[in-house]
Amino acid sequence: MSAPNKSYDPVEVSALQPDALDAARDEALAAIAAAADLDALKQARLAHAGDRSPLALANREIGALPPQGRAEAGKRIGAARGAVSKALKERQAELEAERDQRVLVEESVDVTLPWDRAPRGARHPLTTLQERMVDVFVSMGFEVAEGPEVEAEWFNFDALNFKPDHPARSMQDTFFVESEETGLVLRTHTSPMQIRSLLARELPVYVVGPGRTYRTDELDATHAPVFHQLEGLAVDEGLTMADLRGAIDAFVAGMFGEGLTVRMRPSYFPFTEPSAEVDMRCFVCRGASAEPGGEPCRTCGSEGWIEIGGCGMVNPRVLTACGVDAGRYSGWAFGLGVERTLMFRHGVEDMHDMVEGDLRFTLPFGTEI
Ligand code: PHE
Repeated sequence: MSAPNKSYDPVEVSALQPDALDAARDEALAAIAAAADLDALKQARLAHAGDRSPLALANREIGALPPQGRAEAGKRIGAARGAVSKALKERQAELEAERDQRVLVEESVDVTLPWDRAPRGARHPLTTLQERMVDVFVSMGFEVAEGPEVEAEWFNFDALNFKPDHPARSMQDTFFVESEETGLVLRTHTSPMQIRSLLARELPVYVVGPGRTYRTDELDATHAPVFHQLEGLAVDEGLTMADLRGAIDAFVAGMFGEGLTVRMRPSYFPFTEPSAEVDMRCFVCRGASAEPGGEPCRTCGSEGWIEIGGCGMVNPRVLTACGVDAGRYSGWAFGLGVERTLMFRHGVEDMHDMVEGDLRFTLPFGTEI
């Protein structure tokens, strides 16, 4: 603060004249009003309210006035500086609000814009469904087994008690690798995994084996030459058909919800005895469509039941072929169709949709990786 100026110099203090102060204030207010953004306002603040601004300099001159003039000058200059700082504050608030508004608009994400990056791939619905089916059994304590898709005839047929003249062995049903002499086939079912598991594992055995299987079927709405099955095998002491039934009940509850009855119809497979086809109550109509006067149901074709696979008690001949003491151990096995399950669980009507790779089919299932 400058000391009182004893040698009063009217030139030095001309900045304190009302006209000069008004001019400095008006200039400041004009610059503030004209500041178009926060940077410009910063410049205006420096120029008109900073230490070297005309009003600050004028303020410093107060001390140079004779005492009687100071109060008056102080009031005037205080009013001018007050007006400038109020204008600065208001303009600052305005410009900040404008900037915030602009940021909201400029930095918002337009979720409707088309994107130019290639979408990430996702697993096929058959794969995710197969995994979900496996999970139900894994949660019951089953292990997962795998086997080759190019399989020895012995594993695919002989060890499973298919007689040499069984029609399934013919070229008409089975893909042979190169020629029939090689003894190698594309596995026609996942059941060879029963044999591989019994040969490789310690008893007791509780395994599920999901996998790709092949038959010489033409691709049509309900058949495909390449399809998937889920094999299950349990071999332990004292196992009965009731345990098999319990496992299938648990599978149906796990995949489709509680309260759906399972039924077994007598059937025949060389490797199980007795054998059965397994049906579950239709999870959509719960059987109502098959009652007199019931609404038709597309899921079960108004049968009231849906066939989910084959099963049975492991034929003792199979156990013996694998070196298992069939007097001490018993077992059961099942085979579930994965495509079939996808078809009725999700209302897929045509097998073509599962193999053609059209994203319009797969995307609605989600993009689970
Ligand atoms: N492998 C049989 C099929 O493909 C299904 C099955 C598996 C039947 C296990 C009984 C036991 O038709």
